[in-house]
Amino acid sequence: MATLKLLLSLGICWCTGSLATAEELSDPIADNLRWVSLDFKTILTWTTSQPEHTSTLLYAVDNGDWKESPDCIGVSDMECDLTDVLQPLDKFYTADIQTNAADEDYPTDGDELPHTYSSRFNPYRQSNISAVTFTLHPLDQSTVTVNITDTLTAIHQRGQQLTIRDVLRSDLMYKITYYKAGSTGKREVTSASSVAEVSQLDSGESYCFIVAVFIPSRPKETQLGAPSSQQCTQGHGIAQGLSLGALVGIVFIVITVLIFLIITVAVLCCNRCRRRNKSLQTSQTSAPI
Ligand SMILES: *[C@@H]1O[C@H](CO)[C@@H](O)[C@H](O)[C@H]1NC(C)=O
Ligand SMILES: *[C@@H]1O[C@H](CO)[C@@H](O)[C@H](O)[C@H]1NC(C)=O
Repeated sequence: MATLKLLLSLGICWCTGSLATAEELSDPIADNLRWVSLDFKTILTWTTSQPEHTSTLLYAVDNGDWKESPDCIGVSDMECDLTDVLQPLDKFYTADIQTNAADEDYPTDGDELPHTYSSRFNPYRQSNISAVTFTLHPLDQSTVTVNITDTLTAIHQRGQQLTIRDVLRSDLMYKITYYKAGSTGKREVTSASSVAEVSQLDSGESYCFIVAVFIPSRPKETQLGAPSSQQCTQGHGIAQGLSLGALVGIVFIVITVLIFLIITVAVLCCNRCRRRNKSLQTSQTSAPI
């Protein structure tokens, strides 16, 4: 009877013990896994409720074998830069954050560690593209050349930093949005080249341009890069861009200043003349006869 009791209580202990362990393991420690990617620099970030544990990041391409990311083994940071391992770029990658045991006395093999899986990520299709810079060169009265600088990416090849054109090649297009200064009607052209000509502009008018990377081969929501800041051409002639009111104002100010100058000079001259006359008179009267 005593032995049965002992066995029973042992059994209960064992049961509750393993239940507790199972609960701990099923509770994922890394959470909120998020891909952050700009100009093909790709970082995975996550949060944890137990920062005393370190993490190891594994990744797999297209559901292939898991590999360790060399820079992210047993790290206590909650982010990992995967730019150099997610290559080739145009593949779908999945990451796995494995949370290591805090207590080194309990040797655990990989299968028992808590894992959290990321969503699938394709850098080529999903990396955000930052705003480009460009210059405007009026070609003639109705044509402007837009000269766009291909942004540098975080990808290096043979010691060289690649531009978005090196990475995207013929998939790279630019969307140029422009409008006549002071009007709301916008027009758009797409260009496969980084030097684009925009023609059929009204001669002598000022136009404003905004440029963004455009990648038609991507899914709709990631096709456009960030919009550039706006640049405008100068219209022709001094009067361009100034309203009639401003012109009248300027003419009025110039005339006022001129009149003021003339009056000042006249007053100064008169004073001097009068003083000279007076001193002449005084010297005459005081002179001994
Ligand atoms: C791209 O930018 C958008 C808007 O800022 C953001 O919501 C998204 O998470 C970014 N995607 C990546 C992969 O960084
Ligand atoms: C475009 O700009 C780059 C540098 O900003 C310059 O080297 C190049 O000659 C320009 N090309 C044209 C067609 O204006």
